[in-house]
Amino acid sequence: PLDHLESVWLFGYGSLIYKADFPYLQRRPARIHGWQRRFWQGSHDHRGTPEAPGRVATLIAAPEHSCDGMAYEVTPDVFAHLDHREKNGYLRIFTTFDWLDGSGQVEGLVYIAGPDNDAFLGEASPLAIAEQIAASHGPSGPNSEYLMRLAEALRELGEQDEHVFAIETELKRMLA
Ligand code: BEZ
Repeated sequence: PLDHLESVWLFGYGSLIYKADFPYLQRRPARIHGWQRRFWQGSHDHRGTPEAPGRVATLIAAPEHSCDGMAYEVTPDVFAHLDHREKNGYLRIFTTFDWLDGSGQVEGLVYIAGPDNDAFLGEASPLAIAEQIAASHGPSGPNSEYLMRLAEALRELGEQDEHVFAIETELKRMLA
């Protein structure tokens, strides 16, 4: 269904912010409205195992909130690669991105793992999330690396993400 387009915008709010292992035409910091980043999705294929799932980011519907991330302009064939990378419960939805520099907006796609997918874990305290992350490793590496690299990338974007930074604080305390 995307194949008739020359390019498509993709919004990244998790590992896509710091790891783009696909070709892209350009990337730009962007914001989407009505969503909040939360480490509420289980990962049994990338940052954990079926016996000990890790925790990774998804977006939770939150009408009063917005989420900053990185948008990539890609050719439609990139989605075949990403659909494989992001199996584990993620669906693509269409939404509007605002450019963080205020220069306008564009329509694009974002991967979201909703509360109804099998790998969804849901809410937990920053301490409980950090404990689970500290204990989880998968084929893509330690779950702690995912959290730390995302926190670092969000700081570089100038984003104050209290949820991610609270987990990072607990994790650093634990690993110290
Ligand atoms: C993201 O960074 O936007 C993302 C990464 C993995 C799965 C879904 C979304």
